[in-house]
Amino acid sequence: MWPVLLLGLVLALVPSSHQRGLSMLDIQDIVDQLGDEIITHQGLSQDKGNVPIAAQQDLTQQYGSSDQNEVSDVPHPVKVHNWGEKLDIGQLVSVDVDSQDQPIILHRGNVVWDETSFDKSFELKKRSLIPNDTVLTLDPDTGVVLNSWGANLFAMPHGVTTDDDGNTYITDAGLHQVLRFTAGASKPDLVLGKAFIPGNDNSHFCQPTSVAASSKAGIFFVADGYCNSRVLKYNQDGTLLKIINGNWNVVHSLALFEDDDVLCLSDREGQQIDCFKAGLDRPKHTNTDDNTGKKIVSYTGVGRIYGIASKGTALLAVSGKPSVRGITIDTASEDQSILDQWGLNEGLTFPHDLAISLTGDTVYVADSGLQRGVLHKFEVVRSIEDF
Ligand SMILES: *[C@@H]1O[C@H](CO)[C@@H](O)[C@H](O)[C@H]1NC(C)=O
Repeated sequence: MWPVLLLGLVLALVPSSHQRGLSMLDIQDIVDQLGDEIITHQGLSQDKGNVPIAAQQDLTQQYGSSDQNEVSDVPHPVKVHNWGEKLDIGQLVSVDVDSQDQPIILHRGNVVWDETSFDKSFELKKRSLIPNDTVLTLDPDTGVVLNSWGANLFAMPHGVTTDDDGNTYITDAGLHQVLRFTAGASKPDLVLGKAFIPGNDNSHFCQPTSVAASSKAGIFFVADGYCNSRVLKYNQDGTLLKIINGNWNVVHSLALFEDDDVLCLSDREGQQIDCFKAGLDRPKHTNTDDNTGKKIVSYTGVGRIYGIASKGTALLAVSGKPSVRGITIDTASEDQSILDQWGLNEGLTFPHDLAISLTGDTVYVADSGLQRGVLHKFEVVRSIEDF
């Protein structure tokens, strides 16, 4: 059954940008022609000259429509029950998978972010470090803790991201910092921002939320975050290359489509996902970079998206109240509607982040609940009937 599911997912997701619909690369070409103009759904569909009709029909046949309740071949995450329920952790805020395809999670130990945590100028009222190991690596099959670290390093950790070189990036909204750790290290090899001091210049963050990293390109991005609502681009050395501003209200999560050179962000309170050119191929030591940040596509009206993740051309997202659910978007499709929704009535309470396994057959959702965190595991199946 596993090889079949896996093959199914690969067939459904990976080749789609080449075989059907309008790929990200096609869209980039159009954007290059039009300049900085935002390509909207209407904009694309009015301009039929750019969209092969055959491709449209093909797409419709392949995917069906997500608002009809039919069984289609859309990859669909289905909850694995009784998994990882013995985790004794605090507020669970983030999940990623490491280079061995093991889930790595970030929780807040004995600290909780509530309305008393920060003052009006976004400073953390209680400047103390969490005594608990906050970063845990889990066994993907059993959910048991394989390894843990991160005590006395973080104040209000928010996001964990690993890269292909084995580095781990932690964003801390209380420290207003981004810290990078090489594999197995107990001290960071890179610290950006000033501890406990919020700000909006080149050397300060204000409640940063998320990192997306490309080892191949030697580039990473920081979502900054709650109060600045901007994205900063750095090279591996920590040199600031570009600040990307947008009309956003809480930039909460980042996802990189490395092959397409596209970075997407969730604008949580703006209820949209914005995607723009990442500029991974730009010179790494100059700041003359006009390309990065060019808008490619916006998915609007998608709900309050807390976390996004990418795999192939698929963009998966989790949204919070009032519409708690997971959604799947096909970035290769010119139709910018939601392709699939999942995780309904499966115990999600406050989904805060998600991650897709390297093989694409598993999705993890970090649920920040209230005091005690829960990690949900989903298996990706080709259709509901397969399961
Ligand atoms: C965190 O550490 C404190 C102090 O050692 C302990 O009392 C508490 O139970 C721990 N909390 C979690 C969620 O691990």
